Amino acid sequence: MRINKNHFNLIENYLFSDVANKVKKYSEENPNKKIIKLGIGDVTLPLCNAVIDEMKNAICEMGKKETFKGYGPEEGYLFLREKIQSYYNKKGVNLKTDEIFVNDGAKCDLGNILELFSVDNTVLIPDPVYPAYVDCNVMAGRKIKYIDANRENEFLPLPSEKDKADIIYLCSPNNPTGAVYNHEQLKTWVNFAIENDSIILFDSAYESFIEDKNLPSSIFEVEGAKKCAIEFCSLSKTAGFTGTRCGYTVIPQKLVFENQSINKMWKRRLAAKFNGVSYIVQRGAAAIFSELGQQQIKNNIRYYKENAKIIANALDELNIYYTGGINSPYVWLKCPNNMKSWDFFDFLLQRANVVGTPGAGFGKNGEGFFRLTAFGDRANTIEAVERIKANIKSN
Ligand code: MLT
Repeated sequence: MRINKNHFNLIENYLFSDVANKVKKYSEENPNKKIIKLGIGDVTLPLCNAVIDEMKNAICEMGKKETFKGYGPEEGYLFLREKIQSYYNKKGVNLKTDEIFVNDGAKCDLGNILELFSVDNTVLIPDPVYPAYVDCNVMAGRKIKYIDANRENEFLPLPSEKDKADIIYLCSPNNPTGAVYNHEQLKTWVNFAIENDSIILFDSAYESFIEDKNLPSSIFEVEGAKKCAIEFCSLSKTAGFTGTRCGYTVIPQKLVFENQSINKMWKRRLAAKFNGVSYIVQRGAAAIFSELGQQQIKNNIRYYKENAKIIANALDELNIYYTGGINSPYVWLKCPNNMKSWDFFDFLLQRANVVGTPGAGFGKNGEGFFRLTAFGDRANTIEAVERIKANIKSN
């Protein structure tokens, strides 16, 4: 028996585990300090009532012989896929229900999808980026190329000849920078993928935070994308499902490589490896797309955006450069006094007892930057911001 040695090419700890370990150590050593966490993008508002009511109904159905459900379809119940279909329809994107696969959060499928592609493929990943894309490909032993996202390109890199690759990861609104591609920029990526016979894996987990109606919230709003892209979305940030686990993956029928339908390959893979998301969770997820559900989740999103504004106002006051925070729950800032990311992390943890995420953990271009999340509780966000301001001003 031999093990997969590619695992040893991973960096020692996953970014958010590293952060959590440091915070745990600090709070054990300083038990009386109130630490405020604006690090990992985990939500703090509870599930909305529309979701809870529907889940309760589903639980009751599971308790009666006549309405009990066993195994469901691995691609998700049709009632939920139809809701997702009409959600896309409102964006002007027409999908067939068999192009939609219900997942247990975008992270799993963003990695699992790689099983359909040869390990000889080269992958292009923007830097900085959500670390899961890199780790999944390192574990598989794929060659990774990076494209630089930085202040010069407003953290929205566009491809050139040297960036040719078989698999391309994009995330918009971006984690960690909060930057959002416009139509024209996404079209450039779609054209590039089609010209080079590449596939785009598009992570739209933060799409519901887009308030500028001119910005695309799905890659399929761009002409030609159905021939070259898969979209992965999550209800984690949209509706507080980080602990409930549900999302969806869209694989168009037109997506064909080496004469093979990727949709068909994925369906076959799911049948072998997945028994679907729980019925109760899918019923809750379907409620998000009702009129009442949409109203309630939009209230929560508004709350988080007000947190983002509170953070952004403080940075304006401190004259610190930042991106994001408008069409995104993340605020990506330049560390003050040219501090390195992890130094600023330690500074904030020790002086202000506030936790953020060091930009360097998202890639080399993240060095010197820092990410704060707007998913915190309001009172804590206000307190954290006051502490940050006081400590930076007095430094
Ligand atoms: C983040 O903080 O980047 C996200 O919460 C991580 C995730 O979605 O898995």
